[in-house]
Formats: sequence, structure tokens, C-alpha cells
Amino acid sequence: MPFVQIYRGCKIALKSIISQIYCLIMSLIRPVLGRGITRSFKGLTHKRMPVIAGHKLLYRCNLECKMCPFWRREDSDLLSLEDEVRMLESLKKAGVLFMGFEGGEPLLRNDIGQILDESYSRFHTSMVSNGWLLQKKVHEIKDNLDFLFVSLDGIGKVHDRLRGVSGSYDHAVAGIKEASRYLNMAISSTITAENLDQAADLVNLAQKLGIQINFQIAFDYTTAEKESPDSSRLKAVIENLLSMKMNKAPIMNSKEYFESILNSWYHGISWECKPWLTINVDPTGKIVMPCYVLNEYSGSFTVWDTDILKLWDSYPWGEFASCNKCALACYLEPSLFSWTKPSQVKSRIIDNITSFIQRQIA
Ligand SMILES: C[S@@+](CC[C@H](N)C(=O)[O-])C[C@H]1O[C@@H](n2cnc3c(N)ncnc32)[C@H](O)[C@@H]1O
Ligand code: SF4
Ligand code: SF4
Repeated sequence: MPFVQIYRGCKIALKSIISQIYCLIMSLIRPVLGRGITRSFKGLTHKRMPVIAGHKLLYRCNLECKMCPFWRREDSDLLSLEDEVRMLESLKKAGVLFMGFEGGEPLLRNDIGQILDESYSRFHTSMVSNGWLLQKKVHEIKDNLDFLFVSLDGIGKVHDRLRGVSGSYDHAVAGIKEASRYLNMAISSTITAENLDQAADLVNLAQKLGIQINFQIAFDYTTAEKESPDSSRLKAVIENLLSMKMNKAPIMNSKEYFESILNSWYHGISWECKPWLTINVDPTGKIVMPCYVLNEYSGSFTVWDTDILKLWDSYPWGEFASCNKCALACYLEPSLFSWTKPSQVKSRIIDNITSFIQRQIA
């Protein structure tokens, strides 16, 4: 091949990599730069403010996971698109920077593209899906998401058995392959009694698919099957995941996530839970207090009728600081994060950027 053509080819590839790195960096600093400044001013007068919001768009689901209570519930009136926007505006006013959508299965909402569009213009926006509809619907969501999680709880039949519908694994993997062409992604995996021995295989699968993986431990909700893992077997799995993480496996959880579980559940040294960092809104627009685990997703205050910062200032959060009952990543990771700990900044921010760049070059 003539030198000029090789040179042009390299130049185009380099340009595309640089523009994608720019998009990623902007997607990370967008919420920090603009809204972060406003938030900092509010922080002068409020001791506690939510940073992350989680919103269940609906309870309905196309799967029937054993450990999950949500698909078993009836949906009453879901929020209209206008009410979703009212909710987003209230959360923005309260200082939220990161917005995460889930359910039920969020891709079952026909207006999912519009909802994400409204969120993306206000927040760093992520979503978690079971992936069944992903191949079909990726084009409705790909331009309005900063990050997508797809749940995988085992390889092949192990996943299908836990998820209650055969074909779930194949649909999720096909969805990941398609969506990872457009989006920053990770597998979201819930460790249960039935998939403990597959955690390492799932890490290897993530590596093969060129994405990351994030783990959490199943919590025994009162209205779902009891699937939380056996304590002594779990310890070995957590230790192994920590060691894989330290050996550069593409595991998103911070090393502190695994260490805190080992310290608290096996050595009696608790972490300080800060459920106030995460605000959760149920499918009818109600805020779930203090966290959706203790309250099993029953909301009390309609988000746009509530002065969130006033509620946050007066709520007895201290009562929950040493709870340590669950290791749901959406509560535990923010509770542990600190800008003053270089290893956390590295693993949560810098490593994510590096792995993205490596994926683009590979
Ligand atoms: C409730 S689902 C909603 C989004 C979507 N339907 C999905 O499965 O990804 C969100 C996450 O919660 C996890 N989950 C379900 N039941 C759980 C439990 N009992 N304890 C901890 N996580 C659970 C799922 O595995 C999934 O990764
Ligand atoms: S975990 Fe997700 S996919 Fe499974 S039943 Fe619950 S909402 Fe549906
Ligand atoms: S540890 Fe307790 S207070 Fe914290 S999120 Fe879990 S259940 Fe809620």
C-alpha cells in the first residue's frame, strides 16, 4: 500500500479515536462542570444533598427473576412524559448530577427514547436493562445514554434459570454485542445462591465482550425467593473477585467495595452507609426513604411536591449509618467514594477512561 494511503488511514483512525475520547471525557465532566458549580453553592447551606438518582420507570417486566420482587407487583398509573420531566426538574433543583433508570424492564416503555433524551440534557444518564429487547431498541436509546448496564447472572442455562425465561441469556448477549458498538457498557451481575461459582466465568465473558462488569450481592426481599448466597461460600468469591480486580480484570466495583463487605460481614467492622447520597423515585413519582431496600420500594413523598433539600436536612439519616444490611452497589459505592482517596479516583474515574481508550484501540 502506498505510504500516502497508510498515512491517511492512520490519520482518520486517530481522528475518530480522539473524537470518541473527547465525547467520553465530556460525558464525564459535563455534569461536574455545569451543574457541579451550582451544586457547590447549594452545598454551602445544606449538609446533605443527593448526588445520584435512581428511578423505576415501571414494575412490569418481560422476565420473572427468582430473587426479584418487582415484576410481581401491579403497576398503577405510570408517570406521563410530562411528569417524568417534572421529576427530572425537581431532582436537578435538589443537586442531582447522575440519573439512573431501571424498573421492571425500562425498555418496555414506549417513550423510553424521549425520557432518556430529557434526562441526558440535564444529567449524566445511565440505564440498567435485562437486554431482551436491546437489539431491537438500541437505536431509540443510543444517542441519549452515557452508560448502559445489562444484567447477566450466569452463563447460559444458569442465567435462564434465575431469570425464569429460557432464551434470556442469548438475547442479553446478542443485545450486548449490538449495543456495545455504540455505547459505554458493563454487565451488571447479581451474586445469588445459584450462581456463586460463575462469578469468575462472568468476568472472563465481560473481557471477551470487551466491556466491564459490576457485581452486587442479592438481598433477600420479603416478596421474592430467598436467593442471597451462603455466607462462607460468598467470602471466597468476594476474595477471588478482589484478587482478579487487583490483577487488572475489567471489574468496575472499587476495591473498597469488596473490602468493606469482607470487613463488615466477616470481621464486624462496619462501613458508614450514606443512603442520602442516592435518591430513589418509584414508578408513581414518590421518593422512597431512606433507601429502597429497607422500604422495599414503597414511596412516601411525591417528588415535585416535596422540598427535597429540606427533607434531606431534617431526615434522621444517622440511624442508618451502621445498617450494613445490603451491598447494593448503588448505595454502597457512593457511600465509600472519596475524592481524597487516590485509589478510588483511579478505579472509578481514570481506569474507566483508560479501559475505554484501550477498547477503541484494540
Ligand atoms: C430490578 S432490575 C431492573 C432492571 C432490569 N430489569 C434488569 O434486570 O437489569 C435492576 C438490577 O437489580 C438486580 N436485582 C434483582 N433482584 C435483586 C436482589 N434481590 N438483590 C440485589 N439485586 C437484585 C437485577 O439483577 C438487576 O441487575
Ligand atoms: S431483575 Fe430485572 S429482569 Fe429480572 S424480573 Fe426483576 S426487573 Fe425483571
Ligand atoms: S446498608 Fe442499610 S441503609 Fe444502607 S442502603 Fe443497604 S439497607 Fe439501606
